[in-house]
Amino acid sequence: MAKNIVLIGFMGTGKSVVGQALAARLGRPFVDVDEAIEREQGRPIRKIFAEDGEAAFRRAEQAMIQRVTRRDGQVIAAGGGAVMEASNLAALTRAGWLVWLKAEPDIILQRVGETSRRPLLDAPDPKGRVEELLARRQATYAKADAVVDTTRRTVEQVVDEILRVTPQGAAPCG
Ligand code: S3P
Repeated sequence: MAKNIVLIGFMGTGKSVVGQALAARLGRPFVDVDEAIEREQGRPIRKIFAEDGEAAFRRAEQAMIQRVTRRDGQVIAAGGGAVMEASNLAALTRAGWLVWLKAEPDIILQRVGETSRRPLLDAPDPKGRVEELLARRQATYAKADAVVDTTRRTVEQVVDEILRVTPQGAAPCG
């Protein structure tokens, strides 16, 4: 069975939309970790943050990543903060080929648009918040096996680029 392809990177870099298109192209199942958590809990991420706090969300995220990484052959989109937890990064790295999707802060803000869907950007100065979080996360995202800039590319172009930098559609290394 082929190794998972795991998309990591900041909010608004296209992990979900690109992941879906990539999975369709490869004929693989697509798993969006955030969506799986929402489905399991029957409420949106925004509500989980508001009602139970970020720490509770992170626990749910960690449990979901452990579960999802038991299977091979998928395209997985991890939430933007997931890899900041060392055990999540380790599980994802073990289970797949990590591709970091990046974008410039202005583009991130444009794409994220209505910030209330992303509780972490629901701040008085969303741009400052993006820059601060990016600065804190950059070195961890850079641990990915490959990086693809999505700033001036269409979804299909990003998919092409991922396939170009991913060895044989992420077949197992042996
Ligand atoms: C988060 C990113 C979100 C979601 C949650 C926290 C983060 O996922 O997991 O709001 O810490 O960057 P996306 O990157 O899919 O928006």
